[in-house]
Amino acid sequence: MSDLPDSCAHPDEQFPDWARDFSRAPELLRLELEIGPGRGGFALDHAAAHPEIDLVAIETRRSDVEEIREKSARRGLTNLLVFQGDAKLLVPRFFRAHSLSCVHVQFPDPWWKKRHQKRRMVDVDLAVQMRALLMPTGVVDFRTDVPAYARAAVESWEAAGFVNLDGAGALWQGAPEVLSTRERRYAVTGQPVFRARFNNPGPAAPETTERAAALSAEGRSGREWRDVRRK
Ligand SMILES: C[S@@+](CC[C@H](N)C(=O)[O-])C[C@H]1O[C@@H](n2cnc3c(N)ncnc32)[C@H](O)[C@@H]1O
Repeated sequence: MSDLPDSCAHPDEQFPDWARDFSRAPELLRLELEIGPGRGGFALDHAAAHPEIDLVAIETRRSDVEEIREKSARRGLTNLLVFQGDAKLLVPRFFRAHSLSCVHVQFPDPWWKKRHQKRRMVDVDLAVQMRALLMPTGVVDFRTDVPAYARAAVESWEAAGFVNLDGAGALWQGAPEVLSTRERRYAVTGQPVFRARFNNPGPAAPETTERAAALSAEGRSGREWRDVRRK
């Protein structure tokens, strides 16, 4: 590549240099992603509990981003970076294929109205994207307070070829090590939470990608959203 002019970006430079940004030796980098951390209850405590991981959190709301950054600095966390923006736009620009060891999507907004459905975070498109970005054995940590969203999301992750760690179609009945901000409230009020965990079995088989693409093109993610609305 030495014959390239200096002004040209080397192909390796199109993604952030996370090892440098986390001050981590490249071979020790263990990237995790949280989409929509809100006020950061999970991000902060998870990063503190696991100094061996490097957590990237993407949140649209500026005030939440600033709050998490302030708390992170006060706690001296060096393994948490928070970015303001739309995860759907930033994720493909942030991460190379098979570079993530875990993705956390906790209590994404349900977007009930049909005209808002395209804003939903978890659908087959996201699941297929995560199949490509998570390393083999990489984990999906999904949580919601909406039963219909839980069912739909389980279908989406499975349609993309993820292996449900608790059996096909099943929710996880265990208790997470770290609760999200919203989950802490529910732990007090007793409101039910629906959780599911998935494993990336490796690169997607062509038929899985085709099926997922077909579902996505139909505008549904393995389910008909109106059928499950508010159930
Ligand atoms: C219902 S809150 C849950 C917050 C947190 N995960 C929790 O459990 O307490 C959903 C969060 O996702 C964020 N969000 C929604 N769409 C997003 C997107 N496209 N990219 C990043 N964050 C998003 C919202 O701003 C909000 O903070």
